[in-house]
Amino acid sequence: MKYIITGCAGFIGMHVAEEILKKGDKVLGFDTLNNYYSTKLKKKRLQILRKYKNFSFHKFDISNKKIINIFSKFRPHKTIHLAAFAGVRHSIKKPHDYINTNILGFLNILEGCRHSGCKHLIYASSSSVYGLNDNKIFSEKQICTTPLSLYGASKLSNEHMAHSYSHLFKIQTTGLRFFTVYGPWGRPDMALYIFTEAIQKRKPLPLFNSGKMSRDFTFIEDVVQSILKINYKKIIKKGKGIFKIYNIGRGEEIKLIDFIKEIEKNLGKKAKIKNLPMQAGDVKSSNANISNLFKDYKIKPKISYKLGIKKFVDWYLDYSN
Ligand SMILES: NC(=O)c1ccc[n+]([C@@H]2O[C@H](COP(=O)([O-])OP(=O)(O)OC[C@H]3O[C@@H](n4cnc5c(N)ncnc54)[C@H](O)[C@@H]3O)[C@@H](O)[C@H]2O)c1
Repeated sequence: MKYIITGCAGFIGMHVAEEILKKGDKVLGFDTLNNYYSTKLKKKRLQILRKYKNFSFHKFDISNKKIINIFSKFRPHKTIHLAAFAGVRHSIKKPHDYINTNILGFLNILEGCRHSGCKHLIYASSSSVYGLNDNKIFSEKQICTTPLSLYGASKLSNEHMAHSYSHLFKIQTTGLRFFTVYGPWGRPDMALYIFTEAIQKRKPLPLFNSGKMSRDFTFIEDVVQSILKINYKKIIKKGKGIFKIYNIGRGEEIKLIDFIKEIEKNLGKKAKIKNLPMQAGDVKSSNANISNLFKDYKIKPKISYKLGIKKFVDWYLDYSN
């Protein structure tokens, strides 16, 4: 089987690509290795993938239309699209990045699938699509029309674009609404990395909305297992369910304060908390209803936040030394 995986030097992309490579499938990976965060970290992730003979890499920008020709030449059976500008906060400072990569880039991926005969496109959406809403638990059944950031808006647009391509060209598309993914090799712009670094280096820990926030944190191994099951298990019956959307979360809301306490415990150090106001574009809480994922794929997340934080802190200490 041949795969195209975009964003393969990214956090989730590297983990997913490695698991697929281990199975002996051929992977063509794309990434720009942009400097939104440490390119050193991205290159180190790439080194892990380069050990596999069945891996090849193109340093390529998906917003470049020429990617469609590469798809046509390579003819992937499946595409896992994870490249994106991912931060909510950066989308306020640099909105054009989100239109170029997340919207135009996504169109190129859809066109690539259309013209190469790719059978299944699995792509990253986000819990950010839920935006402003009164529900405590977010379900795929809700109609989402109120994203709070351009990032959320770009991911919601991707789902709409995918629907039209599934409908017009019979491409199977599965959108995954990830809920705060964390774990080893994680992103330095995300809370767990920022908090761990601040506590370890005894620096002030920036805590938005004075910590009155909670998140459904999803450990990377659970995310990878979900993607693999969705990838390998066939549930589509003739023409039915060709367009799908799933929440990928743990289904458990964790208070940010409890999350910090667990990091402190693992590092054996106290945080120096610096309270800050709520950030524009952010939501106060997120909690995924994951019953659809269980119904279709029997997927149940395994890793508790306590074990997940331990695994992350062990990796962080090793990596930063
Ligand atoms: N990590 C999370 O908690 C989370 C939550 C919700 C959604 N997501 C989505 O999951 C996907 C993967 O997220 P991640 O955490 O691994 O992010 P990441 O930033 O680590 O990975 C994205 C990768 O895409 C690459 N990239 C960006 N623009 C590109 C372009 N124009 N062409 C080619 N490559 C480009 C980046 O260099 C990066 O390596 C993203 O689509 C993100 O929006 C992630």
